[in-house]
Amino acid sequence: MSDIFAAKAAKWDANPVRAAMGQAFYAQVLENAPKFLGCDLAGRTVLEFGCGTGVLGLHLAQDHAARLHFVDTSPAMLDVLRGKLAQAELPQAQVHQGNLHELSIPLASVDLAVSLMALHHVEDVPGALAGLRRLLRPGGLLLLGDLLPEDGGFHGDEAAAHNGFDPEKLRDQCQSQGYQVQRLLPFHLLRKPDATGALREYPLFFLAASAR
Ligand SMILES: C[S@@+](CC[C@H](N)C(=O)[O-])C[C@H]1O[C@@H](n2cnc3c(N)ncnc32)[C@H](O)[C@@H]1O
Repeated sequence: MSDIFAAKAAKWDANPVRAAMGQAFYAQVLENAPKFLGCDLAGRTVLEFGCGTGVLGLHLAQDHAARLHFVDTSPAMLDVLRGKLAQAELPQAQVHQGNLHELSIPLASVDLAVSLMALHHVEDVPGALAGLRRLLRPGGLLLLGDLLPEDGGFHGDEAAAHNGFDPEKLRDQCQSQGYQVQRLLPFHLLRKPDATGALREYPLFFLAASAR
């Protein structure tokens, strides 16, 4: 299968629009994870789904001493991450390339699963929610950030599986896959130009859901 992120991976981290979005999501993670897990992140097992170059997970590992599973399907994005891990001293970080159901991560072993802007690339959203639920322990937490419904302009001619998400439909899908949704709210407005150079705005949602 072709890697649609191959051409972008090397410069992924240099984009300031992505950096601002990542910081806004990280702030939500730091506020909501201790609240809904009932503990801090030190020593907790965290899985970053669709981690790409792993910016978020690296912060959680370095700033909060979390144990990280980085999960992604893109060899190019994971190569960038592996390069960064080679510079960092994080023996508790593991990189997994592949789909959730193929990974060698023990079931019910993850305290916190985080994912930013990956779910809209996944065809089978209920399948991904179920796969993450199997890896989370009961009482574990899923934190998602992704696009609210948009007109397809976000990706332009590039491929994505979904043009954002209807939050209430996603809430129902979470409930059906064994989660209790704790928080669902808009958290960031991403601004970027379209093909004509006109500035467009794309609102993102934040979802926190506990594994039942
Ligand atoms: C838009 S990028 C976001 C990367 C990173 N989360 C960030 O915010 O910088 C989407 C990522 O999801 C990954 N992805 C797409 N489908 C996936 C799947 N089924 N399982 C795991 N990762 C997937 C892609 O390879 C890509 O790295």
